[in-house]
Amino acid sequence: MKLTLKIWRQAGPKAKGQMVDYPVDGISEDMSFLEMLDVLNDKLILEGHEPIAFDHDCREGICGACSLFIDGRPHGPGRHITTCQLHMRRFQDGDVIHVEPWRAKAFPVIKDLVVDRSAFDRIQQAGGFVSVNTNGNLVDANAIPVPKADADKAFDAATCIGCGACVAACPNSSAMLFVSAKVSQFALLPQGRAEAKERALNMVDQMDAEKFGNCSNIGACEIECPKDISLENIARLNREYLGAALSEEKGAPVPFHKPKQA
Ligand code: SF4
Ligand code: FES
Repeated sequence: MKLTLKIWRQAGPKAKGQMVDYPVDGISEDMSFLEMLDVLNDKLILEGHEPIAFDHDCREGICGACSLFIDGRPHGPGRHITTCQLHMRRFQDGDVIHVEPWRAKAFPVIKDLVVDRSAFDRIQQAGGFVSVNTNGNLVDANAIPVPKADADKAFDAATCIGCGACVAACPNSSAMLFVSAKVSQFALLPQGRAEAKERALNMVDQMDAEKFGNCSNIGACEIECPKDISLENIARLNREYLGAALSEEKGAPVPFHKPKQA
């Protein structure tokens, strides 16, 4: 395949960026999109040019590192795949392909196609965990019964890989789908109820502090999410947040109750 790539180049966070044209030839339809960029980078290096910076790690849809806005869509054409799972067979010989970084105030460009997604880490640190009392009287987690439907929904929420495509897809740059997945994976399980109030309040506070936009129910996040995280989780986050905000005392112990099915 012969292609023309129009790629965002930006030398650093403060530098002015621009789209630059790169012709590429000899691309196999069996290559992944990242392998195609590897071919281009090899060529650029051999010619003495600066290679294109882009994020990647596992290259198998697990880590969430790859993050390219391809032809106006996060992770490119196709549904429920990450950029590293996108193959060149989805394109035609002679295509012109536009490649940009995630665009969001909370994800500033570091270089070329790499953005700073540490805002997600700070949201996780604000409450996306379960504290474990290691006093020697632990109950084996597997000994706590969890209804199958709740376990399945919690597992589905836990498949969020933190890639940020939901933010890139949203015209408001909202992180609600990501935060709702991280809240839901614990909200549905007994182990997560002890800190449920603080978790919802603190993670939403941090999301706002990071300057993500508000959710206006457009739904682009769900469509572009490679892990098919459902909008149902946003409804659950809103219920969790409202319940916590209406309670009198932040941090008050919450007795376990089975959450209503969304
Ligand atoms: S909700 Fe989906 S799109 Fe958003 S960070 Fe998680 S996996 Fe990525
Ligand atoms: S490189 Fe890990 S999900 Fe794409």
